[in-house]
Amino acid sequence: MRNTIIELKSADLTLGNAAASVHVLRSIDLKIAEGEAVGIVGPSGSGKSTLLMVLAGLERLDSGEIIVRDTPIHTLSEDRLADFRGRNIGIVFQSFHLIANMTALENVAIPLELANVRNAFDIARKELQAVGLGERLNHYPGQLSGGEQQRVAIARALAPSPAVLIADEPTGNLDTETGRQIADLLFAKQQERGMTLVLVTHDTTLAARCSRQIRVASGQIAGDSHAEQTRLATVSA
Ligand SMILES: Nc1ncnc2c1ncn2[C@@H]1O[C@H](COP(=O)(O)OP(=O)(O)OP(=O)(O)O)[C@@H](O)[C@H]1O
Ligand SMILES: [Mg+2]
Repeated sequence: MRNTIIELKSADLTLGNAAASVHVLRSIDLKIAEGEAVGIVGPSGSGKSTLLMVLAGLERLDSGEIIVRDTPIHTLSEDRLADFRGRNIGIVFQSFHLIANMTALENVAIPLELANVRNAFDIARKELQAVGLGERLNHYPGQLSGGEQQRVAIARALAPSPAVLIADEPTGNLDTETGRQIADLLFAKQQERGMTLVLVTHDTTLAARCSRQIRVASGQIAGDSHAEQTRLATVSA
């Protein structure tokens, strides 16, 4: 049995104000093991992105616990949480979130510099070469294709060597073939580095490539292939 790297206990969250309040996460319990590739699926509005943001430490719970690498991150101050995130969690978004007036190299290197990493530009150059963008270092995001922009975002997420990579619909803005290449890249990096990958997708082919599939519905876990396997193993034992 592999070690648990992320654990949610009775996670509960309501978002919005009184006029538009939504109970987004309802008492979620979840354990993710080190090195797992988890694909989260579910209808629009079911709470997938919110769940990811909680796992990434970008959204606070109303109640419950979120433990990442043995650290109860819900107890950390904003500064410590930001520091923890920077060292342990990489995040990739559907719409890339690159800084328009920075080159590909700067998009990857500047966050490292801000985190006081030495040789930030050398590391950034290597990460960009590793995602196949060695010839695009000085291009601005607007001069790159969607797939290339997502490669820059992946290089940026991977540069601090995070233990966990979180991706919200990483192929959602890309055509099928480019999306497949980006998925290949994510899984290759996950294998190479023994990372834990948690992604949300509407693409059933991409979800099927993950070692575990979780279905979210109305803010709850409505299905979990891992729990299914455990149950069947128990039944047949
Ligand atoms: N800041 C907010 N204030 C109020 N409601 C919110 C807020 N953020 C999200 N919600 C609501 O919470 C629910 C879950 O949102 P979330 O973005 O997690 O869904 P999702 O499963 O990622 O959907 P999609 O597949 O469309 O991306 C939605 O009904 C949304 O309207
Ligand atoms: Mg979403």
